[in-house]
Amino acid sequence: MAVSWVTVLALAATALGASIALRTLAVPGRAPPTEFQLKSSRIIRTLKRVSDKDTLEKSSCGRVWVTVHSPELRLSTTRRLQDAIELNWDFNGCSNVPKQIGLFDARPEDFSQALRTYPLDSVSGFLITNVSLGDAALPGGWESGGGYKGGHCLWPRVAAGGDRVDTYNCLKIQPTWMEDNMNKIAELRIGELALPGTHNAGSWKFNTAFNTASRDNIVLCQDRSVWAQLVHGIRYLDFRIAYYGAGHEDERYWLNHNMVRVRPLVPLLREIRVFLDATKEVVFLDAHHFPIGFYEPDGSPIRKVHAGLLEIVQRELGPHLADASEFHTGFGTRGPKLQTLVEANKRLLFSYVDNAIVGENNWLWPILPHLWANTNNPDTLLAYLDRAISSSPLPHARSPLYSAMAQTTFNVWDIFKGSLRVSADAVNRNVTERLGTKWRNQANIVSTDFFLGNDVIDVSIALSVERGGRL
Ligand SMILES: *[C@@H]1O[C@H](CO)[C@@H](O)[C@H](O)[C@H]1NC(C)=O
Ligand SMILES: *[C@@H]1O[C@H](CO)[C@@H](O)[C@H](O)[C@H]1NC(C)=O
Repeated sequence: MAVSWVTVLALAATALGASIALRTLAVPGRAPPTEFQLKSSRIIRTLKRVSDKDTLEKSSCGRVWVTVHSPELRLSTTRRLQDAIELNWDFNGCSNVPKQIGLFDARPEDFSQALRTYPLDSVSGFLITNVSLGDAALPGGWESGGGYKGGHCLWPRVAAGGDRVDTYNCLKIQPTWMEDNMNKIAELRIGELALPGTHNAGSWKFNTAFNTASRDNIVLCQDRSVWAQLVHGIRYLDFRIAYYGAGHEDERYWLNHNMVRVRPLVPLLREIRVFLDATKEVVFLDAHHFPIGFYEPDGSPIRKVHAGLLEIVQRELGPHLADASEFHTGFGTRGPKLQTLVEANKRLLFSYVDNAIVGENNWLWPILPHLWANTNNPDTLLAYLDRAISSSPLPHARSPLYSAMAQTTFNVWDIFKGSLRVSADAVNRNVTERLGTKWRNQANIVSTDFFLGNDVIDVSIALSVERGGRL
């Protein structure tokens, strides 16, 4: 018996070692674990999934990944390109840095098949290609309803190597990442998970026939539907809800960006419902701001308007709601284990910004703190988040969760010169890097704008798995 176990381990460490190593993210300035360090029980635990994961990404040291450039690209004075594909690499700590990187539209096997190749002359970095993502149909049967489990690649793939491809990855969806990794993360409490989130999740496209670039530039924070966000792997949605006193009750609740109404609420709740029905994932929904219609001029809540919202949420998402009075573990704790929620099949946690209303409705989760720098300067934002994340969560926090809001905020002058797409681009790469380094152990929810411009989803999944392995 002993002999056969040794054989299994040896096989795993040689033939499959490459795929296993990539489960541990390379941290700049720190050597990745050696194969020797990985020759542990983890190898056996990961064996089962290696074969399917192998079709998505592979590396023996370092990483490559695909992102989407959020601002419009100017190719010439007359030609513009939207959704340009970016290729990113990080080979810090590797003895060999690849000589080239390429963009592919199928599983990378040979550089002769690449759509574009570029020489690599730095250990880490990114480049913006002049190829657009174009039609980003969701693969694996996930376009509008539940599809096959596991990660699936969209068309863009990236590979790096010398003469031969040795590291590759793709732009992917991770519709079932919690379930896929449940044997490693089940025991984590929700406050111990690393969770990818979207800031202003509902501000992705106006619900009107006309869109104007000038308005879109300063209002829209996302460019994927709530459904697509969840399918890509986002698990925390930050909602800003407004109430307008005309029309059918359902049509009075809207998702806003501050004073601008963007989309009606109910259809978005239905997208979340379809996702919860189709998966075993846990989703965190946060009613974080009520810019219009929920308060009297003196600041007291308008009970009827709040009650109307709660009724709609109960009606649309009721069977999935995890009642805080049942699952909350008390102030200053990290909340229920993921497994507890999944086994009870109560997988939607709805947190509410108004403590008076939470006090009257004990199924609501208490105010979820946002680490919000309120600055338009990327350096100030990152320095603030470095400090705030390292001292979070607060010892007596009401909520087991907290969200780092990793986006800059426009001031009144920026409105005349900027675009939220440009400001997202100025921080998204730093956010990917920070999450793997300075925020690695403490970060809980990290919420971004234009999330395809960063790699927060894949890094969060890897960090959750890493934290689960430390329990
Ligand atoms: C895109 O870049 C390649 C070089 O990488 C160049 O050959 C090609 O002409 C460019 N295409 C456009 C549309 O600018
Ligand atoms: C953000 O990333 C860029 C490289 O993409 C780097 O030059 C810059 O120093 C980073 N900013 C901070 C505050 O870390």
